[in-house]
This record gives sequence, C-alpha cells and structure tokens, in this order.
Amino acid sequence: MKVLIIHGPNLNLLGKRETDIYGTKSLKAINKDILSLASDLGIDVRTKQFNSEGEIVEAIQKGDYDALIINPAAYTHTSIAIRDAIAAMNKPAIEVHLSNISKREEFRKKSFITEVAVGQISGFGPDSYLLALRSAKNILSK
Ligand code: DQA
Repeated sequence: MKVLIIHGPNLNLLGKRETDIYGTKSLKAINKDILSLASDLGIDVRTKQFNSEGEIVEAIQKGDYDALIINPAAYTHTSIAIRDAIAAMNKPAIEVHLSNISKREEFRKKSFITEVAVGQISGFGPDSYLLALRSAKNILSK
C-alpha cells in the first residue's frame, strides 16, 4: 500500500509562516508524525514538497502510488493543471488543508481540487494529514 503525500507551495515555511493560522510546527516535524503513523498503520508513505505547479503535476503523473494525499496550498484555488493531473491518474486522492479554508477569505472558498478528490479534510492543523492517512488506509483496504 503506497501513499504519496504532496505539500504545495510555501508549506516549506511552516512553523515560521503566519503561525496564527498555520501553527508553529515545522514541515519536518509534521512529516515525522506522518511517517510514525504510517509505520503504525503499515503503509509505505513518501512525502514531497514543491513550490512550483509543474513539479506537482509531474509527481502526480509519475503514478508510483496507490493513493495520493495532497495539500495544494495556494494552487488549490487556481490550478486546473493539478486538478486535471489528479483526474487523469484515476487513483484515490484526498485533499488536505491545515486551516479551514471555508472560514477564511472569499477567494479561498473555491477549490478546483475537491471535485476530483474522494474528499477534503480542512481545518484540523497538522492532524488533517493524519486523518487523511487513516482515510487512505480505509479506502485502499476496501
Ligand atoms: C492551505 C490553505 C491555502 O488557502 C493556502 O494558500 C495555503 C495553505 C492550508 O493548508 O490551510 O498555503 O492549503
């Protein structure tokens, strides 16, 4: 069971970036918690962070995973290319956000990703990734 986790642009700055919204945990610490849960669940997880849209599309197209967990960050609200890459792969994808994007600025309420995802987990801080990982395991076990 292989799960690819993609963190989108500016998430490399977690822990320093707008900590009132995104919290004080670094991406390194978040990935550590993800890998620890993955080992408990017996899932082979890889985590990647990209700042550019093209690199995200390429990683999705590689297809070397059974399920995808993605926080597309700002590209959530703009990227038809990432949406189309997910649709093309025809593999279960879960959209994740640290903050509750429905409770923020108007422009964050639109996600191009949700319509090609199994579902969206938004607003639970770093736990959003852990909830997504549990869901991925359930989906792949069916
Ligand atoms: C985010 C929400 C996006 O609107 C924002 O651009 C991000 C992070 C989140 O995890 O809450 O960079 O995806």
